[in-house]
Amino acid sequence: MTNDASITGQTAVVTGAASGLGRAIAQRLAAAGGRVALWDRDLTGARRVAADIGAQALALEVDVTDPVSVRAAWAETKRSLGTPSILVNSAGILGPSAAFADYPADAWKRVLDINLNGTFHCCQAAVPDMVASDYGRIVNIASIAGKDGNPGVAGYVASKAAVIGLTKSMGKELGKHGVLVNAIAPSASETAIFGELTDAYRARLIANVPMGRFVRPDEVAALAFWLSSPACSFSTGVTFDISGGRATY
Ligand SMILES: NC(=O)c1ccc[n+]([C@@H]2O[C@H](COP(=O)([O-])OP(=O)(O)OC[C@H]3O[C@@H](n4cnc5c(N)ncnc54)[C@H](O)[C@@H]3O)[C@@H](O)[C@H]2O)c1
Repeated sequence: MTNDASITGQTAVVTGAASGLGRAIAQRLAAAGGRVALWDRDLTGARRVAADIGAQALALEVDVTDPVSVRAAWAETKRSLGTPSILVNSAGILGPSAAFADYPADAWKRVLDINLNGTFHCCQAAVPDMVASDYGRIVNIASIAGKDGNPGVAGYVASKAAVIGLTKSMGKELGKHGVLVNAIAPSASETAIFGELTDAYRARLIANVPMGRFVRPDEVAALAFWLSSPACSFSTGVTFDISGGRATY
């Protein structure tokens, strides 16, 4: 019998791995025996995380909005760590908070470019090798904001709803090839994405969460690990909730 919870010997790519949820996920996958490529536009940060993890980690400077950068990083990861069977898309930004009528069009494009197009480019780089080996696990970090909506962050909400849609489409198409594609919808976590948090902002972020607190990065990492492992064997195209009871569907 195989150990369903093991990813020993597998290679994982985690985008946005220099910080926050991506860092916690990379650490969790490495602790489970995976070799991990840490992709981030912040190379210094990614190197710091890689140094903490040890020999089975590789830090690469990647801009997920640039398909050339993404494809080069995929090729380098294959050369250095072996062909990845796991991809976790965590690179993302919140973008500005603004009333809808004032929401800047250039920020709208930037948020969609990183959160949605970046996820698309990384998935496109990964899928051919995963299909060729009849096995793969892709985990897209969406957000409860993509299901529920939040006021004042139209670009972010739209990008995350689109990531949920992309996940559904890929899940339905690729399941027959052994490539399972799922998303995670966390509620707020106290990471760098929000910048400096005032007490009032902190209170507002957790006001809608029945469990009354931020989700911890290691909690998101535990779910991402399960979705990245062979233990996740009959779920695809689904968005998994981790919102302390906030989600209603
Ligand atoms: N923190 C939360 O409350 C929360 C809640 C739900 C979903 N999420 C999602 O989780 C993911 C991770 O967020 P986080 O909280 O860890 O934020 P974070 O700011 O701590 O980390 C994001 C990482 O993405 C990297 N990044 C940004 N743009 C990039 C690009 N173009 N190419 C490569 N790397 C890039 C950053 O350098 C950073 O290391 C995001 O997609 C975010 O939308 C976060």
